[in-house]
Amino acid sequence: MKLFKYLPAVLALSCAAFTTGALAQAPIVIKFSHVVANDTPKGRGTLRFKELAEKATGGRVKVEVYPNSTLYKDKEELEALQLGAVQMLAPSLSKFGPLGVKEFEVYDIPYIFPNKAVLHAVNDGPIGKELFRKLEPTGITGLAFWDNGFKEMTANKPLKTPADFKGLKMRIQSSKVLDAEMRSLGANPQMLAFSEVYQAMQTGVVDGSENTPSNIFTQKHHEVQKYLTVSDHGYIGYAVVTNKKFWDGLPADIRTALEGAMKGATTYANAVAQQDNDKALEDIRKSGKTIVTQLTDAEKAEWRKAMLPVQKQMESRIGKQLIADVNKEAASQGFK
Ligand code: LMR
Repeated sequence: MKLFKYLPAVLALSCAAFTTGALAQAPIVIKFSHVVANDTPKGRGTLRFKELAEKATGGRVKVEVYPNSTLYKDKEELEALQLGAVQMLAPSLSKFGPLGVKEFEVYDIPYIFPNKAVLHAVNDGPIGKELFRKLEPTGITGLAFWDNGFKEMTANKPLKTPADFKGLKMRIQSSKVLDAEMRSLGANPQMLAFSEVYQAMQTGVVDGSENTPSNIFTQKHHEVQKYLTVSDHGYIGYAVVTNKKFWDGLPADIRTALEGAMKGATTYANAVAQQDNDKALEDIRKSGKTIVTQLTDAEKAEWRKAMLPVQKQMESRIGKQLIADVNKEAASQGFK
């Protein structure tokens, strides 16, 4: 009888205990959204981060990866991050201009990086730090820089000289520097989300584009582009970013573990990036669907000359000093 009297209270208490226990054990979920395939440098880096983060936190953190724009496209993913609908992204460096942090577009200046050593020195030095500092007021914290690689040009006609670009509709990412770059070649830049490029090529909305071999191959752009020119005229890399409020609100031990996981994922992503791009270029060649041509040094010099005015034109947008500092880094490594 007595037991019956107290049964509701006992039940309520054990329910509460169960709920609190379950809550205490509920993992922190990180939704990591991106726009490329899993078998690309960014795709692999993201999966490695998931593996390392879950291991380092003993399962207290669960990383859900959403590749290939399955959750959000380019512009939406940045808005979703700011709103806290996702916790991590790795947009290309060309996509931060619309947020108001135009300085990121320095990475888009044609031929400004002679190689990855110069690029890494810029990322790891005061310029990289300052770029991440400029992100903070937008509610976004920068965690790491990840490589993809150098860009090549594709179209349905051969592209050997700057004159070949005249009048072509060329897809670009959301960067004013890339807009200026295409105009310097006499092309008409068309800004499109990454997920829309294949169809735009297929239907003739655009005639061509620029991208890394790994992106071109995994999105099957080579099936709807007859020519690819290995020009290495620009670079695509990523800033891995998180929602600042989310990141600052994490328990300190979890944040430290995630920082370690990010370090491991960064080393891995940067190590596989070149291999992925070399293999993708080979796969494009082997597909027989696209004719791949390499620019000679003389042809490259012509392209460089045609695109050089972009540096001056973009000084007022991204800062004369910043462009000079990147050039200085290249000079210090023996490049003019
Ligand atoms: C593009 O839009 O072409 C690239 O930025 C996609 C990516 O994330 O590599």
